[in-house]
Amino acid sequence: MLNDMKEVLISEEKIADKVTELATQISSDFNGEKLVVIGVLKGANVFVADLIRKITIPIALDFMAISSYGSSTESSGVVKILKDLDEDIEGHNVLVVEDIIDTGLTLSYLSEYLKSRGAKTISICTLLDKPDRRKAHIDVRYKGFDIPDEFVVGYGIDFNEKYRNLPFVGILKEEAYQ
Ligand code: IMP
Ligand code: MG
Repeated sequence: MLNDMKEVLISEEKIADKVTELATQISSDFNGEKLVVIGVLKGANVFVADLIRKITIPIALDFMAISSYGSSTESSGVVKILKDLDEDIEGHNVLVVEDIIDTGLTLSYLSEYLKSRGAKTISICTLLDKPDRRKAHIDVRYKGFDIPDEFVVGYGIDFNEKYRNLPFVGILKEEAYQ
C-alpha cells in the first residue's frame, strides 16, 4: 500500500490533534442539548469512531450508507440510500460526519433528506474539504482540513475499497488509479 502513495498529506498525529479540537468545539456548542451524530458510511467510519470518543457530552450514534452514482473518482450527485437511519431524528439536532467533501453534491442531497425527516438543526462536520471543486453550496460548520484537488486515500477513505486502513491521509500516485 505504501508504495502506491505519492506523499503523506496529513499525518496520524495531525489528524489526532484536529479530531480533539473539533470534538471539543462540538461538545461546547451542543452542551445541554440532544445530539444525534450520523456517520456516513463507509468513508467516515474511522473519523467518526475517533471523533465520538473525544466528545464529552451524551450523544446518540447512527449511520447512513449511501452510494453516489458516477465514476470511481468523481461523484454525479445522484445518491442512493443503501442503509437508512435506525433512529428517529424528528426534532433533534443532527451532526453529519463525512470523510471528504468534493463537489458537495452528496451532502447537499443528504441535507435535504435529513430536513425531510424533520431534523431540528443539521450541522456538517467533515475531515477533509476540496473547496475548489464545489458544485453545490454546503455550509460546513466543522472542518478538519482544506486539501488541494488531488485524489486522497487513508483514514477510512478508499480507492476501490482499498487503503481505508492506512492511519494517515495520503495522495495516491496516479499510476495507482489509472
Ligand atoms: P461529493 O458528492 O463530490 O462531495 O463527493 C463526496 C464523496 O466522494 C466522498 O464522501 C468520497 O466518498 C468521495 N471522494 C471525493 N474525493 C475523494 C478522494 O479524493 N478520495 C476518495 N474518495 C473521494
Ligand atoms: Mg463518502
